[in-house]
Amino acid sequence: MKDLTPRPEELEPVERASVDEVRALQLERLRWSLRHAYDNVPHYRAAFEAAGAHPDDCRALADLALFPLTTKADLRDNYPYGMFAVPRERIARLHASSGTTGRPTVVGYTRDDIDTWARLVARSIRASGGRPGDRVHVAYGYGLFTGGLGAHYGAEELGCTVIPVSGGMTERQVMLIRDLEPDIIMVTPSYMLSIMDEMVRQGMDPRGTSLKVGIFGAEPWTEDMRHEIEQRLDIHAVDIYGLSEAIGPGVANECVETKDGLHIWEDHFYPEVIDPVTGAVLPDGELGELVFTSLTKQAMPVVRYRTRDLTRLLPGTARPMRRMEKITGRSDDMIILRGVNLFPTQIEELILRVPELSAHFQCVLTREDRLDAMTVRVERRMNATLTASVEAGSRLATLIKNTIGVSVQVEVLEPDGVERSMGKMRRIVDERPR
Ligand code: DLL
Repeated sequence: MKDLTPRPEELEPVERASVDEVRALQLERLRWSLRHAYDNVPHYRAAFEAAGAHPDDCRALADLALFPLTTKADLRDNYPYGMFAVPRERIARLHASSGTTGRPTVVGYTRDDIDTWARLVARSIRASGGRPGDRVHVAYGYGLFTGGLGAHYGAEELGCTVIPVSGGMTERQVMLIRDLEPDIIMVTPSYMLSIMDEMVRQGMDPRGTSLKVGIFGAEPWTEDMRHEIEQRLDIHAVDIYGLSEAIGPGVANECVETKDGLHIWEDHFYPEVIDPVTGAVLPDGELGELVFTSLTKQAMPVVRYRTRDLTRLLPGTARPMRRMEKITGRSDDMIILRGVNLFPTQIEELILRVPELSAHFQCVLTREDRLDAMTVRVERRMNATLTASVEAGSRLATLIKNTIGVSVQVEVLEPDGVERSMGKMRRIVDERPR
């Protein structure tokens, strides 16, 4: 793999600033953002007043803890436009979060917000090893989901050639990669696996494509998955994070030279990690729920928005901004099985340690005699024999028992037997009676 570290002069000034400079900029912007939310969004005014907090009380970054947390339910209660802070005519675009249950969350952008977002995604692509002139294959879905258009505008902003493929039609994805020779692919990691399988099916060597970098996000994925993708494709696999409520993709991104967690673009988003039960702010380094306050967003500022994503904050390395550790999971994806807490990412790690099994999997929850049970549905690799894969299944069950401490069933299916997704993969299938 080629060294794609950006040269210092390719970075933006803030990416080379000192930590103190970043903090000073954040405080100035935070004060603006709190005031903007308070003045223009009735929900925030009421919530601040109920908590006895006023924007003028924010004199230091730590004072943010005086302000109330915001949840998905607050956004839902104000559906669709109640959280907007600018007149409707100034909204240039709407997107919506991938709400799996009930109403989606609608988010809005002014022209300036779209520009900020494009610059942040451009910064993310550059951090991943991309350069002006690179060809970027975007296989995130286009539409209300922020993945496709977010990646698209960012790649254009960086000066790349965008190939706006969107998700789906896997055979055609492979044909376009072969014919148009992109340098970079932006896609969910689970869909990348499907594209790689299709390459093999078409008799193509995945290591022989033009691709140099994959920018993967929108769902949790592990270091073992990074290793799998990097080995099979001979590319750098880099993590991109974001959520619609904050802006979309490009809230944080890994640097290709370190791949040691995601640098949060702190000049636009102020991160905190809280105890998910008490809501107390935790010191950097401790695992908890990630919370974001937008610092520059005009159309829909968010103040202390609870992401439900679990991670910890770490000091900056390749950039002055703090990093967040690769996400282990969302609090809503935590499975409690006979008293043991576990996340699908833990299962992914273990599957990838069994050579006969491929990384397509789902965790199926059922209930028998009032006891919850879990079946890991996984596939054998194309080159593994049936007998070897049956044996591999029992090895996986033992590995799960010994590592996580819980007994599960393992069902090894034929290649292509597990449900596929063209975007975010559904890892948990809950078949328990309500
Ligand atoms: O998934 C934005 C996005 C698009 C990010 C493309 C990266 C690439 P939402 O649909 O609002 O937005 O979903 C946000 O997805 O709270 C996380 O739970 C999860 N997520 C996003 N990126 C990552 C990642 C987009 N790199 C929710 N690792 C977030 C783990 C991620 N989870």
